[in-house]
Amino acid sequence: MADSSDGTLLKFASGVFWSWDEDKLCLGKADRLTDIWRIDSPEILPVLARFYSGATAQEVADSIHADSRGALLGLIEEWKEKELLVLSDTDAPRPSVRSPIFELLRTLNSYHDIEHRDPEFVEEYLGVATRTYSSPALGYALVNAIEYVHHSQIEGDIVECGVWRGGSMELAAKKLLSLQEIRDLWLYDTYDLSWRDQGSEDGLEFLDVEGSGSAGPDGPGSDSPDRVGVSVGEVQQTLLATGYPESSMKFIPGYVQNVLPRYTPKQIALLRLDTDDYDSTMCELVHLYPKLQKSGVLLVDDYGKQSGATKAVDEYFSRKGNVRPLFSRLDIQGAIAVKPALDIQDRRG
Ligand SMILES: C[S@@+](CC[C@H](N)C(=O)[O-])C[C@H]1O[C@@H](n2cnc3c(N)ncnc32)[C@H](O)[C@@H]1O
Repeated sequence: MADSSDGTLLKFASGVFWSWDEDKLCLGKADRLTDIWRIDSPEILPVLARFYSGATAQEVADSIHADSRGALLGLIEEWKEKELLVLSDTDAPRPSVRSPIFELLRTLNSYHDIEHRDPEFVEEYLGVATRTYSSPALGYALVNAIEYVHHSQIEGDIVECGVWRGGSMELAAKKLLSLQEIRDLWLYDTYDLSWRDQGSEDGLEFLDVEGSGSAGPDGPGSDSPDRVGVSVGEVQQTLLATGYPESSMKFIPGYVQNVLPRYTPKQIALLRLDTDDYDSTMCELVHLYPKLQKSGVLLVDDYGKQSGATKAVDEYFSRKGNVRPLFSRLDIQGAIAVKPALDIQDRRG
């Protein structure tokens, strides 16, 4: 048996997924669906998710109780032999910016259909995974939406409210570059290194928790030290590294409630909202949705998950004159819609 205590960095191989079989969690590989590995020690499950972004066997073993360590190291060896765990292609551990539980839940939210259809996207996503809170399904929806506005020749800029470390916009920038298309990217965020839920309507929608500060599947609670932002300079560097031209990136630091509508694009092809709470989401809808072109795309990262953002969307589209588009659920978080091509007056005519 190979020595698992060396400093070798391991990660899950491409195509590895988790699923449930009765009450047991199982690990499988998309290209070997007949082999499924059942996991008997539930207490070691969350830490295994650290291999999602690269970790050494020893680091993972150190993070669990000594009683379970032997079983865990045995599993790791078995998975290395079966090539479920492979050597990471980077020589430094990727920073763990979120709790292992969050990583596990995100991994559990299986996306092997995307891997099957578009393995290149999965590589791209894994490359930005530590810089985005978004799931693979949401990232995939974003790049598909970019492709859609490109092929449908929907004019306008790409806007994200709530950029955090810039992972989603990296995916967007790379997709635009691959289509040989440059559109202005508008990047709204406080960039103040932290954020918290703003009002009593904010918090997680589908867990029975009260108000702010609650930890859930989309990451740590708002009081968690993990819930940190990033400086505007750091996000600039991240996005510049994609090769996207600096002149087409508009960084708008500050609360959207303070900077809108002063700094606003003329027309928008794709509007991505991800500031979680009611006040900011409502402000974004009021000032930016009217700028979204008909047939343009609205992506709400938190629809159905964050109660504030969900309430803002429902309320905004119940207002007189605002035609509610068909929102399609993307996964445990997030919804996508295309702005209706006809408004109410057009239909009456
Ligand atoms: C969930 S993170 C965004 C994640 C990012 N879109 C991604 O794909 O990983 C939420 C971001 O919204 C920003 N934010 C929260 N409230 C805001 C507000 N009122 N105005 C501007 N930015 C805000 C926070 O600073 C944080 O970076």
